Amino acid sequence: TQFTADRLLLFGATGDLARRKLLPSLCALCADGLLPEDLTIIGTARSELDDGEFRQMARAALEKFLPAQRRGSMATFLNRLSYQTLDATTIEGFDALAEKVNASGKADGGLAIFLSTAPSLFGPTIAGLQHAGMTGENVRMCLEKPLGTDLESSAAINDAVAAAFPEDRIFRIDHYLGKETVQNLLALRFANILFEPIWNSNVIEHVQITVAETVGLEGRVSFYDDAGALRDMVQNHMLQLLALVAMEPPTSFDATAVRDEKVKVLRALRPAKASETVTGQYRAGAVEGQAVPGYDEELGKASDTETFAAIKAHVDNWRWKGVPFYLRTGKRMPERVTEIFVQFRCVPHSIFEGRSNTAAAGLQPNSLLIEIQPEENITLSLMAKVPGLDEGGVRLREVPLQIAMPDAFAEAERRIAYERLLLDLIKGDQTLFVRRDEVEAQWHWIDAIRAAWEADGVTPKTYTAGSWGPSAAIALAERDGVSWHE
Ligand code: BG6
Repeated sequence: TQFTADRLLLFGATGDLARRKLLPSLCALCADGLLPEDLTIIGTARSELDDGEFRQMARAALEKFLPAQRRGSMATFLNRLSYQTLDATTIEGFDALAEKVNASGKADGGLAIFLSTAPSLFGPTIAGLQHAGMTGENVRMCLEKPLGTDLESSAAINDAVAAAFPEDRIFRIDHYLGKETVQNLLALRFANILFEPIWNSNVIEHVQITVAETVGLEGRVSFYDDAGALRDMVQNHMLQLLALVAMEPPTSFDATAVRDEKVKVLRALRPAKASETVTGQYRAGAVEGQAVPGYDEELGKASDTETFAAIKAHVDNWRWKGVPFYLRTGKRMPERVTEIFVQFRCVPHSIFEGRSNTAAAGLQPNSLLIEIQPEENITLSLMAKVPGLDEGGVRLREVPLQIAMPDAFAEAERRIAYERLLLDLIKGDQTLFVRRDEVEAQWHWIDAIRAAWEADGVTPKTYTAGSWGPSAAIALAERDGVSWHE
């Protein structure tokens, strides 16, 4: 449905995500003149604030989380904000909310609603919106994770939302899709002729996807301990990355075409056996030179929640037959890095074998490294002749062919992922939002892993904070003669 919203209603407006990401993103868009001229932003939450107090809170958040040079005129932005106190668990408050929202825009204007609250409030919130007549054709609904903890609870949330909004007005966030470098995967694959002919099991030996974080629990005690790395990171972000790497070329860059292709990949994921997974939980150690406590100490109790997961995944289709996708993610890793590493096969026949010196030369297979964060580089490793008059022939060495994205696009602003997503929400473009069938295919695969863990009594192995996870994770790859890229 094509309309541009003239109001954005933000549930959870005093929460962590709103302060860290949403308000800063909106302010940055405003500063760059990218928000619709007439867009007003209505915050709502349980806290008793008036408009002025909400603006003060927002100002403090902007000063903390948005670099000064991106703020523009904060007053201009803050003037767009208003606030309505609401207890979303009771229907009554929604009439006043509707009144406020209606008064904030044109009678026939569009409304975008962003739910950044605990999922337990989704049901009551939607009931309240229905009661107050805020689910009409000019309203779209955006949901933030976690969308459930398994397929069943996710389907329940999706059903509750679907009772009020059709799928083409539901926008599910996976903020990784808002990252420039993630979108650039599509450009790399489908705006260049070079990769597609070799992007399959004939030429690719395996793929690695790493999302390593240096942070630990970050005070998210109740949320994280119920989730764990598999559900917090693999179910959403990592599977979206995998889908973008593995999908067939969509016919166009539009929401239906792109999401149709992603969901085919997600459905082709083979159920992973417990023996193809490794889980870990960090113990006290040091990260970037700082001593840090173990997970159980941060949590204040013993727990079986994994803070690290490594999985050997398979996509059962023609293109990827026999090509493992090694996934790993963890908290308290030695460095923050998100990357995709594509290992190509060896040349079918080496013409350099058998000549003196060439054993040392070590012909290596090519690889492509796509660094997503914090560095944004694309590096193709090629073999080259080492200059020199080596006796008996040619000495080879790997040399990088590298594009540093920030250098290539020096003039470009480094944006928060939510800037793209909020703008698309306001304008109504679903391409970078996750469709229901995708989320459910993701959960389907994750649930099977958790069931396998339960059946096999898998509990996380320990690893020292500041290491690359339990040694079993190294063994998982090494069994196949593969080393994790570092
Ligand atoms: C969130 C997870 O979805 O993504 C967090 O809940 C994680 O645990 C975060 O830290 C990572 O996002 P980014 O953008 O910093 O890589």
